[in-house]
Amino acid sequence: MRAASGPELWLLRLMAERGLRLLGATGLIIAMTRESELEVVAEAGAATPRVRSLPLHGSALGTVCESRTSLALEQPTARETPWLTELGVAAAAVLVEPLPFEGQLGLLIALGDREPGFDRSEVAAASDLARSIVERLEAERSTERERLRHGVLARERERTRWARELHDETVQGLASLRLLLESARCLNDSHERQQVLENALAEVDREIDALRHLITELRPAALDDLGLVAALEALARRAGAIDGLTVNTDIAVNGPVPRLGPEAESAVYRIAQEALTNVAKHSGAAHAELALHVQGDRLLATVRDDGIGFASADPASTMTARPESSGNGAVAAATGFGLSGMQERAELVGADLDVTSEPGAGTTVRVSVPISGPTTT
Ligand SMILES: Nc1ncnc2c1ncn2[C@@H]1O[C@H](COP(=O)(O)OP(=O)(O)OP(=O)(O)O)[C@@H](O)[C@H]1O
Ligand SMILES: [Mg+2]
Repeated sequence: MRAASGPELWLLRLMAERGLRLLGATGLIIAMTRESELEVVAEAGAATPRVRSLPLHGSALGTVCESRTSLALEQPTARETPWLTELGVAAAAVLVEPLPFEGQLGLLIALGDREPGFDRSEVAAASDLARSIVERLEAERSTERERLRHGVLARERERTRWARELHDETVQGLASLRLLLESARCLNDSHERQQVLENALAEVDREIDALRHLITELRPAALDDLGLVAALEALARRAGAIDGLTVNTDIAVNGPVPRLGPEAESAVYRIAQEALTNVAKHSGAAHAELALHVQGDRLLATVRDDGIGFASADPASTMTARPESSGNGAVAAATGFGLSGMQERAELVGADLDVTSEPGAGTTVRVSVPISGPTTT
C-alpha cells in the first residue's frame, strides 16, 4: 500500500479545513493506513493528536478503522472511546466516517464541544464529506496514473526515434563500410586496395562525426552547463551547419534569464529541436528563426520558417500527423510522431504548445512555459 503523496496530502489538509467549517466541529482528524500502520495525515482546528501513527492491528483506533462503520457519539466515556485516549484528544461529541480508498482504509474523525452533539444534518454532511474525500483522492490518483502513462509513452516514442536514427545513420554507415572493406579484400592491385582503404577511413571519420552528433542530441551538455539560451544557440548553429538552413537566433530575453528547472528546459529544447528538424525536412524554407522571449510570468520559445506551410506538405507524412487546420490557421498538434511528441512534452511540464501554418507563408511553432522560482543572470 502506498502512502498519500504530496498532492494527496495537500488535498486531505484542504478537505480537513473545509470539513471543520462545514460541520461546525472544534477539531477534525484524517487518518489513512500505510502498510500495517494507521497514520494521521491531516488535522484541522483544535485537534492535536499526541501520536501520528498507531498499529492497525492491536490498537483501538485500528479496530474502529477496520470495522468500516460510521459512528455518532455524545458525551462518550473513556470506555466507549479508548481510541480517543490513544490519540490523546477529548471531545463532548464525536463523529467517525470510514474512508475506504483503493485497498487502503482511512478514518475521518470530527470532534465537537457542544451539547447536544452533532445534529442529523451534520451527521449526513460528514458522510457526504467522506464520500467526496474518497472521490477526490481517486481522481487525484487517476490523474497521476495518466501523467505516468504519458511519460512512459513519451519515453517509448523517444526510444523508437533513437532506434530509427541509429538504424538509418549508424547501421547503414557501418554496412557500407563493410562493403568497402569486403571489396578491398578481393583486390590484388595494391594501389587500388590503398585507394579503397582511404575511402574506408574517410567513411569511419564520417561515422564518428555522425555518432558524436547523435550523442550531443541525446543529452546536450550545454543545457546542464550553460543553460537554455546557450543550448538553443548551439542547436540553431548546428541546424544551420547540418541542414544548410539560415537560422536567425533572435534570442531576446529582457533582463535576467529565467532558469526553468531541468525538465522544463529540456522540454523547450526538444520542442525547438523537433521544430527545426521539421523545418529542414518538410518546409523547404531558406530561413528559420528561433526566438526566446519573456512575457509576464511565462517564457515563450518560437520557431518560425518561411517555407511552404502545412497544406502543400507531402500528403503521406501529413496523413501520419493528421494536422487539422482550423479556420484561424491554428494546427491541432494532436497526432503524428514529432508533433504529438512536442505536445506531450509541453503537457508534462505544464506548457502550452501552439502550431500555426499558412499555405505558402510558413509555419510557426510556439511553446509557452510558466516561469517559477528565482531567475539567474
Ligand atoms: N515546418 C513545417 N513545414 C511544413 N510542413 C510541416 C512542418 N512541420 C511539420 N510539417 C508537416 O507535418 C507533418 C507531421 O510532422 P511530424 O513532425 O509529426 O512528423 P514527421 O516529421 O513526418 O515525422 P517524425 O517527426 O516522426 O520524424 C509532416 O510530415 C509535415 O507534412
Ligand atoms: Mg518531425
